[in-house]
Amino acid sequence: MTPMSPEPEAASAPPLVQVAHLSKSYRRGSQVLPVLQDISLAIQEGEFVALMGPSGSGKTTLLNLIAGLDRPDAGELRVGGVDLTTLGEAELAAWRANHVGFIFQFYQLIPVLTAFENVELPLLLTPLSRRERREHVELVLELVGLSDRSHHYPGQLSGGQQQRVAIARALVTDPTLIAADEPTGDLDRASANEVLDLLCRLNGDFGKTIILVTHDPEAASRARRLIKLIKGVLITDEAQPDATCPVPAIRTRPPA
Ligand SMILES: Nc1ncnc2c1ncn2[C@@H]1O[C@H](COP(=O)(O)OP(=O)(O)OP(=O)(O)O)[C@@H](O)[C@H]1O
Ligand SMILES: [Mg+2]
Repeated sequence: MTPMSPEPEAASAPPLVQVAHLSKSYRRGSQVLPVLQDISLAIQEGEFVALMGPSGSGKTTLLNLIAGLDRPDAGELRVGGVDLTTLGEAELAAWRANHVGFIFQFYQLIPVLTAFENVELPLLLTPLSRRERREHVELVLELVGLSDRSHHYPGQLSGGQQQRVAIARALVTDPTLIAADEPTGDLDRASANEVLDLLCRLNGDFGKTIILVTHDPEAASRARRLIKLIKGVLITDEAQPDATCPVPAIRTRPPA
């Protein structure tokens, strides 16, 4: 992973995420359940956004649409200038692998692989040599403070450590966007704070754009922007001037 380029962000840079009039329903038998209705928003590269709302309000669905894990029924969805609605399944999977790092509530590590092997997994899809893969994995494990645990299996790590391995896995491909779905939901306060400190660093030092779905007001207070959903409708989208994550020292370069 490379630190951010020093070029200043162009004021006219197109948003990294452009969503307009997005809607999504799920079908249960003959019943159609509207989950997201007419959502419009734009997220610039380098932003740190918290997404909150009651259980079932559509947070995960919206995050998964933006991250290319799911598809909308209608509306516009462009990320990094790519219209995700036009991509086929294989193209969408390749796009995700290159551009998005996922962090989940329950870590989703593979129990029979070591921390090192879990982090290496996304790189097996790339043309990197074994040596290059090792260098990348060692770098991100160091970044999350787990160099000394690289040969441990997930079952030999605490919840907080497992989540830091998952963060290393999300980072190892150097994605533009980090999609984190309740990453502190299963952690005690101290471990949660460590994970949030890391997300702050990824945003502040490396310019990663972060969308953080959370029920935790303390986690949300880190983000410089707060979006709230209720019953699939976007009801709040506002800056948080008192966010406890600092603004990145160096602005990100505009998307190519
Ligand atoms: N695959 C699916 N099939 C049918 N309905 C679904 C599916 N996924 C989600 N839903 C429904 O869509 C609605 C929104 O779900 P979503 O998971 O996005 O909510 P959420 O805001 O992330 O909730 P939570 O805070 O509990 O994680 C819910 O009513 C849920 O039951
Ligand atoms: Mg959810």
